[in-house]
Amino acid sequence: MDWGKQNRISRIIKPSSGKAVMLAVDHGYFMGPTTGLEKLDEAVNPLLPYADTLMLTRGALRYYIDPGVDIPITLRVSGGTSILNKEALLHEGIICSIEDAIRLNASCVAFSILVGAEYERDTILGFTEVIDEATAYGIPTLCVTAVGREMVRDARYMSLASRLGAELGADIIKTYYVPGFDKVVEKCPVPVVIAGGKKIPEKDALQMARDAIDAGAVGVDMGRNIFQSTSPVGMIQAVRAVVHKGATVKEGLEIFKGVKAKEAEKARKAKAKAKARARK
Ligand code: R5P
Repeated sequence: MDWGKQNRISRIIKPSSGKAVMLAVDHGYFMGPTTGLEKLDEAVNPLLPYADTLMLTRGALRYYIDPGVDIPITLRVSGGTSILNKEALLHEGIICSIEDAIRLNASCVAFSILVGAEYERDTILGFTEVIDEATAYGIPTLCVTAVGREMVRDARYMSLASRLGAELGADIIKTYYVPGFDKVVEKCPVPVVIAGGKKIPEKDALQMARDAIDAGAVGVDMGRNIFQSTSPVGMIQAVRAVVHKGATVKEGLEIFKGVKAKEAEKARKAKAKAKARARK
């Protein structure tokens, strides 16, 4: 692998652990102001010290993120439909050039392919165009294997989509955790990360991360289960411990609860102080 590409991947998948916590906040590209990301900067800034990369759109990056911040960027370069369209997520094309990705100092570019959907050919050809251009500049590609509405989320399908993405030339595969995930990882020649999916209880999300890592995933590319948590900072620290440190779900949950309790105490003190000030 070219030095530049390898170096960019190393900024995301940490050589010290071989793992990565990717923070996905790219939801706006098809969902607009997603719950928890209405003020994206306020939501994301406290989480940055615990993320290995930030995945987002070029607009969100330019409007909300301080260019002085030290975080590798995974830039979403596919899109084209909104959540209002019944084909949403099923027909994505290129929404950002490699020149702009370079201008934004992207460490990786992400593209969704829709294997088994009506427009799979368009998405696959769009992705290969991105791979060719990104490869020319040593920029790695993340293949997001999105699932069509009609498709069953099982190891057979995820394995097909993941292997296909790798054979097209992707450097990292993002897919959904399913039972039998070890088979998905085993048959995929490049690192695999899991998406978080819809918000579920913290314990279940940590369990999913634990199971994915145990099955051979290199990490998570998680969004809603972090930024929609009752304590996003607590949750990302818990996920980080599970992914990088081999923490159990119980240990992760303790980290989450500890941070959440400290935040509640801080808020209580601030409220009491404000009340006292108002009384004076
Ligand atoms: C999926 O195609 C997009 O990249 C999502 O915005 C991303 O996967 C969201 O992460 P999560 O499912 O954990 O909220």
